[in-house]
Amino acid sequence: MSNDTNRGAANGVTRVRRRTLLRAAGAVGLAGSIAGYAGDASAARQEGELELVHWWTAGGEQEALQALIEGFQEQNPDIEVVNNPAPGGAGSALDTVIKNRILNQDPPSTFQIWPGQSLNEFIEGDVLRDIGDSVWTDEMREAYLDDVQELARPQGNFVSVPLNIHRLNNLFFNTQVLEDAGVDLSNVDSPSALLEAMETVDSETDAVPMAQQTQSPWSTLQLWEDVLVGEAGVDVYRDVLDGNVGDHEDAVRSSLDLVTQYKDLFNQDAGSITWDQANAKVIQGDAAMIHQGDWAAGQYKATEDFEFESDWDAVPFPGTTGIYHIVSDSFTFPKPNPSPDATTKWLQWVGSVEGQETFNPIKGSIPPRTDVPTDDFGPFLTRQFEDFSGSDSQPPTIAHGTGVVPEVKSNIDGVFASFIENWNVDRAFNGLSNAFDVQ
Ligand code: GAL
Repeated sequence: MSNDTNRGAANGVTRVRRRTLLRAAGAVGLAGSIAGYAGDASAARQEGELELVHWWTAGGEQEALQALIEGFQEQNPDIEVVNNPAPGGAGSALDTVIKNRILNQDPPSTFQIWPGQSLNEFIEGDVLRDIGDSVWTDEMREAYLDDVQELARPQGNFVSVPLNIHRLNNLFFNTQVLEDAGVDLSNVDSPSALLEAMETVDSETDAVPMAQQTQSPWSTLQLWEDVLVGEAGVDVYRDVLDGNVGDHEDAVRSSLDLVTQYKDLFNQDAGSITWDQANAKVIQGDAAMIHQGDWAAGQYKATEDFEFESDWDAVPFPGTTGIYHIVSDSFTFPKPNPSPDATTKWLQWVGSVEGQETFNPIKGSIPPRTDVPTDDFGPFLTRQFEDFSGSDSQPPTIAHGTGVVPEVKSNIDGVFASFIENWNVDRAFNGLSNAFDVQ
């Protein structure tokens, strides 16, 4: 591939379907580069530098990553960490950045990715190193929860290291606002009953009933996922994830319709803010509730004078009690790698007891290792732990990449990008029905 062709492909990356892109990367660019590659050290960077690409720049997330980096540097004072974020909730910008870097044969030392289905195209493009021997020791394999461990090797070989387990199906709330509205969420047992509670907040207070960001589609996609689970049950949801949308037409349409009714009670500026700006409205008492993953709790923890139970609390999203809707993050070993030794050490740290004990309490997640001391996790995460241990079902998610293959996810992202503009249930239903038509 000539430089010009290569550059052209990289510039056009957003227009190219993901699978096509990685196939191209695997077949032409990367395969060529790997074949002719003498070693791992990139001319551009030094072995003593670890370049880390991630999207954790929001409140709570930044602090959690910073603590993880500091712990790593204490153990590895000779390695300089080049912290290179690609900001954008739920990885909305990172994917393109990483694919451009891969096409330019210049991947970073490591990058953040959801384990599971999202890894497949990178595995098929042959751009991830097998870390089964170098990182996944017997000690680690014994300590990890089996299901999460499997997510790190979707095609057999270990290619990533999961760091955390988030719960998606939470409804966080400002206790004072709900008290002023006279709303008690323990009596709200379905997504449709939640609409009534939101209407009460609207009539009884000046606060926005539900904070939301619609600047990018993922928050509304994940909201719809949990409305569907809450209204129709987890089996229907799983069947929809398998592509059987038409078999559940009524459930899919009515869950989309409910989301459009919620939308009328979102903050007016939803289209121009990020998830953490929406969450800040709950903190400030300008909004009553927010549906978010428990990374939102990381932001509460990072806020002074905003205390669990007295100022904020959470319930499972109505209708989803007993379900732990899982989101996980992991780090990889891309190749060619500018800093193989440092990358191995980073991945070992991410997979260690101490690394997970450092990161998760700040991030608002629980660890995927079963032997991490939880004394410092605080009352909210202790409750999440209990809910996780007692959960009946732990389904994957579309919005955070574990539930469907990347091509389907990308189609569904497109459906929701339109939905948050036109709120048209017919078009969204048709889009979802067609989203699984991939080869
Ligand atoms: C998820 C990710 C979380 C959190 C969230 C908001 O996809 O797994 O760790 O960062 O996006 O950006």
